Amino acid sequence: MNYKIVTLPGDGIGPEIMAQAVKVLDEVGNRFGHTFNYEEHLIGGAGIDELGSSLPQATIDACKTSDAVLLGAVGGPKWDTTSNGDRPEKGLLKIRETLGLFANFRPALLYKQLQHASPLKVEVIGDSLDILIVRELTSGIYFGRHERTICDNPKDTYAEDVEYYNVGEIERILRVGFDSAMKRNKKVVVVDKANVLATSKLWREVTQEVAKDYEEVDYSFMYVDNAAMQLVANPKQFDVIITSNMFGDILSDEASMLTGSIGMLASASLGEGTLGLYEPSHGSAPDIAGQNKANPIATILSVAMMLRYSLGLESEAQAIEKAVECVLDKGYRTGDIMSVGCKYIGTKEKGSYICEAIKLGNEQR
Ligand code: NAD
Ligand code: IPM
Ligand code: MN
Repeated sequence: MNYKIVTLPGDGIGPEIMAQAVKVLDEVGNRFGHTFNYEEHLIGGAGIDELGSSLPQATIDACKTSDAVLLGAVGGPKWDTTSNGDRPEKGLLKIRETLGLFANFRPALLYKQLQHASPLKVEVIGDSLDILIVRELTSGIYFGRHERTICDNPKDTYAEDVEYYNVGEIERILRVGFDSAMKRNKKVVVVDKANVLATSKLWREVTQEVAKDYEEVDYSFMYVDNAAMQLVANPKQFDVIITSNMFGDILSDEASMLTGSIGMLASASLGEGTLGLYEPSHGSAPDIAGQNKANPIATILSVAMMLRYSLGLESEAQAIEKAVECVLDKGYRTGDIMSVGCKYIGTKEKGSYICEAIKLGNEQR
């Protein structure tokens, strides 16, 4: 089959990790007889520099007519203040909104080979962890009113960011999360701050209604401050976490460390249809950009999610996941997941080893 994949490398380590993702996807194409036609477009700081916009119209048009979108990362100190107020992150939020990608899946998966890379004690983390964070992605405080009001007395000047959720938005993300739980261990924790926030209280009421359609799912609520603590104290209690845009952003970075590094945390953003946007959960890592140090696994595992969720290619997705395991088995590590006795490799080498493992899988079949 032929597929149109839009690639948005973005900024910082974005182009480096994207190059590895494309290399891996081409290897999958070779092994399984698919052709992936790439169309590269601008987003983020790269878009601001070349076309004066963090999300040029050509990028939106290309994404809308693609089978799936792969994104590296956006942002960096260079664009923290621009003359027209545009910034790289705005492009990312706008593409998620424009494509209607309200459901963000962030699987925190510990590979047994990385149990010593996790900062948690082995007695706590064990040799596996599989938590799915389902983050609402196109509403909440990210998309509420952001405003600054200048007052005569400078000390009275204030700013507000409004957390907004309507029932429809809450219900659709809950259904996606409960559906996911049905395919897993049927356990949902809805994370909120219902002891303070009106939006959280509404989330709880809607959850109670939605849960009636999922009798087999064991669900509970947890305050976000407790959830942040429970994730490091007893992470194995979680199966599916469903939460708002901002809480999901924060908790997924926290959960990523349980698996060894943020460089391991893939993500998929989906809406009503099959079109999805796939990106690592981490950012553009300006501190290591251009040094061949970034771990490309989060991006490569996002490619696997793309094959599974947007293209329906399950065996192909599994081939990538097995190849990643195979490279970890051999002890090859980027710096972020380095352990005693392992061999240091860079971004490109890791991509190449994963490609080799995919190819070998072919010969063994
Ligand atoms: P970051 O995720 O870019 O980096 C945090 C730390 O993790 C850094 O020390 C970095 O070196 C490390 N790191 C991140 N990815 C890594 C990888 N693949 N391999 C090894 N180490 C890795 O977060 P930040 O520093 O807070 O943000 C930097 C920029 O990225 C900001 O402009 C921010 O807005 C942006 N950002 C973008 C996205 C995205 O594009 N989806 C996500 C988060 C942050
Ligand atoms: C992420 C990032 C983005 C977010 C930023 C860059 C807008 O942190 O994808 O997790 O907060 O959603
Ligand atoms: Mn984030």
